[in-house]
Amino acid sequence: MTTGEVPDLLAFDDAFAQDRHNRYARMREEPVQRIRTVNGLDAWLITRYEDVKQALLDPRIAKDFGRTQQIIEKRLADAERRPGFSPDLGPHMLNTDPPDHTRLRKLVVKAFTARRVEGLRPRIEQITDDLLDRLAGRSEVDLIDEFAFPLPITVISELMGVEDSRRDDFRSWTNVLVDGSQPEAQAQASVAMVEYLTELIAKKRTEPGDDLLTALLEAVEDGDRLSEGELIAMVFLLLVAGHETTVNLIGNCVLSLLGNPDQLAALRNDPSLLPGAIEETLRYESPVANGTFRHTAEAVRFGDVVIPEGELVWVALGAANRDGERFEDPDRFDITRETTGHVAFGHGIHFCVGAALARLEAQIAVGRLLERFPDLRMAASPDDLRWRFSVLMRGLEKLPVRPGA
Ligand code: HEM
Repeated sequence: MTTGEVPDLLAFDDAFAQDRHNRYARMREEPVQRIRTVNGLDAWLITRYEDVKQALLDPRIAKDFGRTQQIIEKRLADAERRPGFSPDLGPHMLNTDPPDHTRLRKLVVKAFTARRVEGLRPRIEQITDDLLDRLAGRSEVDLIDEFAFPLPITVISELMGVEDSRRDDFRSWTNVLVDGSQPEAQAQASVAMVEYLTELIAKKRTEPGDDLLTALLEAVEDGDRLSEGELIAMVFLLLVAGHETTVNLIGNCVLSLLGNPDQLAALRNDPSLLPGAIEETLRYESPVANGTFRHTAEAVRFGDVVIPEGELVWVALGAANRDGERFEDPDRFDITRETTGHVAFGHGIHFCVGAALARLEAQIAVGRLLERFPDLRMAASPDDLRWRFSVLMRGLEKLPVRPGA
């Protein structure tokens, strides 16, 4: 396809979500694809491993929030649609380029130390065991709803100092926000979220706690520059990035193990394979399947295709991780394979800040689940499982299991 044509490839709708890996495989036949996303935006999708890595390192494929907003608003106005997201949640580090990105990221890295993450281990184990207690003795449970979801949201809420009483609100807002298909509901959820975060930040200023939000406020007081708007957006990013993704890593890992009994048996036999099982899940069923969108600040060439300046670009991490040019037999789930170089946490300057926390949570969750329930079984046929519709994420709607004794 040449650059001037209107894309006829609808991407990220429900049919895409259910058939993602086949679609990605077809897309990898070309270096770059023109797509129209389900919310009506024309964009470009990069799917091959080497191209994805190159795109993530290329400063011409930029993140700047103001410019991206302009492009999106123009496209939505052309399609007579309204943007859903509140701009107040936008100017966070994942939506900025250097030098702002460098300044914002430095603050989080300073507050979110390896020691703070490792210090969470006993609490994560306790939350996991409490959740598993509730599954014991039941004939059938939805592992997403009763385990994979509550664990990361409890961890990130406690880490950030979100009160218990607001967690359900929080869950419904983030659901709508990451779903991406309902602009009206998204707009309402954005407003509610901004109000809540403003309150929470005010409270932490007067009642500091032993949490990451307080540490961020302290880092700011140490002389680093952060506007109130940037702070709200940053807290929003940490809260959302910190849970939806990890829910899907846990769910996708259990699904992949139950669907591949030889791999499950190998892991039960040798629990030291657990970190490898988590890495292989990140590669095989990458939770952030398409990365987050970017735009071309200048024209960029991939193979014989030139993406013009001012276009939206998606970098399909989940497609790159199944590229046979990089990973041998890529559609096989193999917990002993060498997964180094997978891009499930991104690549380059926006590499996931929470990767260590996500790995820790997933290892504790999957490890304790398997230990506690030696007869854990799937309670649905794989054909009946549905992938959640989401522009960003790859995760199941439900994962019905029989925990066993
Ligand atoms: C960035 C994936 C968990 C915080 C990213 C990116 C990816 C990603 C792919 C880069 C996106 C891009 O460049 O387009 C994941 C996955 C997770 C996970 C797969 C779990 C399995 C977490 C957690 C936190 C977190 C637990 C925080 C508590 C962030 C932040 C960024 C980010 C703040 C932005 C970094 C920057 O722009 O410099 N994550 N993430 N993530 N992630 Fe995660």
